[in-house]
Amino acid sequence: YRSQHQDRDNSMGINLANDDQLRDLAAALNTAGAGSWTATPLVPGAPATGEKIAVTNPADRREVVGHWQASDAATVEKALANAVAAQPAWDATPAASRAALLEHAASLLEARMPAYMAMCTKEAGKTLSDGIAEVREAVDFLRYYALQAREHFAPMALPGPTGEANSLQLAGRGVFVCISPWNFPLAIFLGQIAAALAAGNSVIAKPAEQTNLIGYAAVKLLHEAGIPQDVLQYLPGDGASVGAALTRDPRVAGVCFTGSTETARLINRALASRDAGPIATLIAETGGQNAMIADSSSLPEQVVKDALGSAFTSAGQRCSAARVLLVQDDIADKVIGMLAGAMAELSIGDPGLPSTDVGPVIDEDAKAILVEHAKRMDVEAKPIAKATLGEACEHGTFFAPAAWELHAIAQLDREKFGPALHVVRWKADELDTVIDTINATGYGLTLGIHSRIDATIQRIVSRAKVGNIYVNRNQIGAVVGVQPFGGQGLSGTGPKAGGPHYLPRFATEKTVTINT
Ligand code: SER
Repeated sequence: YRSQHQDRDNSMGINLANDDQLRDLAAALNTAGAGSWTATPLVPGAPATGEKIAVTNPADRREVVGHWQASDAATVEKALANAVAAQPAWDATPAASRAALLEHAASLLEARMPAYMAMCTKEAGKTLSDGIAEVREAVDFLRYYALQAREHFAPMALPGPTGEANSLQLAGRGVFVCISPWNFPLAIFLGQIAAALAAGNSVIAKPAEQTNLIGYAAVKLLHEAGIPQDVLQYLPGDGASVGAALTRDPRVAGVCFTGSTETARLINRALASRDAGPIATLIAETGGQNAMIADSSSLPEQVVKDALGSAFTSAGQRCSAARVLLVQDDIADKVIGMLAGAMAELSIGDPGLPSTDVGPVIDEDAKAILVEHAKRMDVEAKPIAKATLGEACEHGTFFAPAAWELHAIAQLDREKFGPALHVVRWKADELDTVIDTINATGYGLTLGIHSRIDATIQRIVSRAKVGNIYVNRNQIGAVVGVQPFGGQGLSGTGPKAGGPHYLPRFATEKTVTINT
């Protein structure tokens, strides 16, 4: 292996076992300013107009946590004009200075972790441990891309046979649009923005409509850290109006998108159909139909623990989440029995309580899709278990984690984004078929392997067309800088977020040859 060692630390987060830290967190959650949070477009020179739309808590829809205001066509136009005008000066700012601002933002965010966690809980329904992971990952992305900017933007001398002074240098592409998802409203939102800014682009950021308040607070934080207001603008709105207006505009040089495969195709089409402007770059990270394979040498207790964690953490609303557990038949009965037992112990309810394992799903639409899927599975597959909703779930958009045994993985048409796990048995001579069937889904994001046999692990690793493989552990929670994250095929274009090749994709390359 080549080794990439960096002088860099990941964020430490908050220790929920420490009473003082837990008290600070409880205080932040209780005084979280719920009801008073706002999000309006952050576009210099554009008057704020339009109606205020209420945002409610996914765990209790009666609770209004804030209001947001959509961007109208004039605001979108102003944002594009501002972004074009601001980009050259930002690009001319030394990469080390850009990096320093991002590092300052990381420190501010880390110091205010409880306040941002509170927003993640109240607007996105995140549990406390998910909230900690969310803020830590956001801090890590800010610091990692800052470091990458320092490294990649130093001009590279390329001495060689021509006898000339050759060098390679990077520059920003121009205006970058960052369109991010609700499931990581801070980490992915800030990760995309940090990379695009670090590389010298001006940025227009459009968060998912479900998490506008967190997006607004994150952009305000970057402005406070010193990123100029015309270099980073915030444009809340729906995909069909704001997203579409941005992606068809010839002034946009690149789009960074995380979300569904269908939307990535729409964006790709919009960019490709432009008759003017640069051939735009699309960096898309999309969904998965992720599997975990367990063979007869694996430890059933560990398989169940890791399948449970991979499928139901964050209410299954991670693109990395396990959707299918493929168990060798020798241990299948034992694993399925223990899985049902473990699911009965899950605590589902208020995500603000440390004892809660699974919080709500993001909204009514998400819940309706899962309810419909469960109805279909109850008929077409064999139910294994359905967790019990806690008392506090009545007013929120909760879906009880559920598992079914399928006859074949082919029964799943597309990703179901929530706490729904499907189990399939396989026989000793079917391992290659299992891997081929996973590859045939066309998705290729994460894969879990449970086995004690090195040859089996190597066989799966070499044959599987996926981006992230986890052996004898869960398959979620990639760590920035050491577990670069992203898939292939229907799961995304690459490069991997939090990896060494991500930042250069946001930049253009310039070769300078001087005849000395
Ligand atoms: N990066 C997340 C994870 O690894 C998913 O988006 O779980």
